[in-house]
Amino acid sequence: MAYLYGSVPFALVIGKVFYNTDVRTKGSGNLGGTNAGRVLGKKAGAAVILLDGTKCIVAILITRLLAAHFNLSDDLFYFSALACIIGHCYPIFAGFKGGKGVSSAIAYTLMTNIYAFIFAVCVFMFTLKTTKYVSLSSIIGSVSVAIIAPFIGLIPPHWHYSTVGIITNFVISALIVYKHHANISRIKNGTESKVQWL
Ligand code: G3P
Repeated sequence: MAYLYGSVPFALVIGKVFYNTDVRTKGSGNLGGTNAGRVLGKKAGAAVILLDGTKCIVAILITRLLAAHFNLSDDLFYFSALACIIGHCYPIFAGFKGGKGVSSAIAYTLMTNIYAFIFAVCVFMFTLKTTKYVSLSSIIGSVSVAIIAPFIGLIPPHWHYSTVGIITNFVISALIVYKHHANISRIKNGTESKVQWL
């Protein structure tokens, strides 16, 4: 179910319903908030980011409720979060060509550890301010969560990731880096677009 909800291509739906535009044919072609903002405008971009963010929030909340109800391991929500992000990146409802998982992963981090979330947002904003590349900021922000996760519990009140959580963070971050391979090539050859508003 998490995979199916993750598969809902909000960028495609908003583009087609409200703007009569298929965002896959414009900008980077990515089904994500950044490209929706680039092609359709800031309002549409923000809406897509929020809707994509709800994917992991809903998946995690429902899984935690079910796990508590059936007396199962609380760690199960990591699997549904991962399934949700895989759905976003490889959606069954859009020919398995989706987004890059960033908005969903941000919501995942918010839901799993507030310190990791604040750290990732700071890393993302600093990278964006200095480079103006959303893609590079997303890559570095997601990798920073995977790196910091094993140590985040050292900060009082010691909210730590379980071993499953630490592994999940690495898998999500690896998936996000992989999904940005075209952006990495464009950054290398100087053709990646930069944000204009910062
Ligand atoms: O969230 C995706 C972002 O990191 C890059 O998007 O459209 O520039 O490839 P885009």
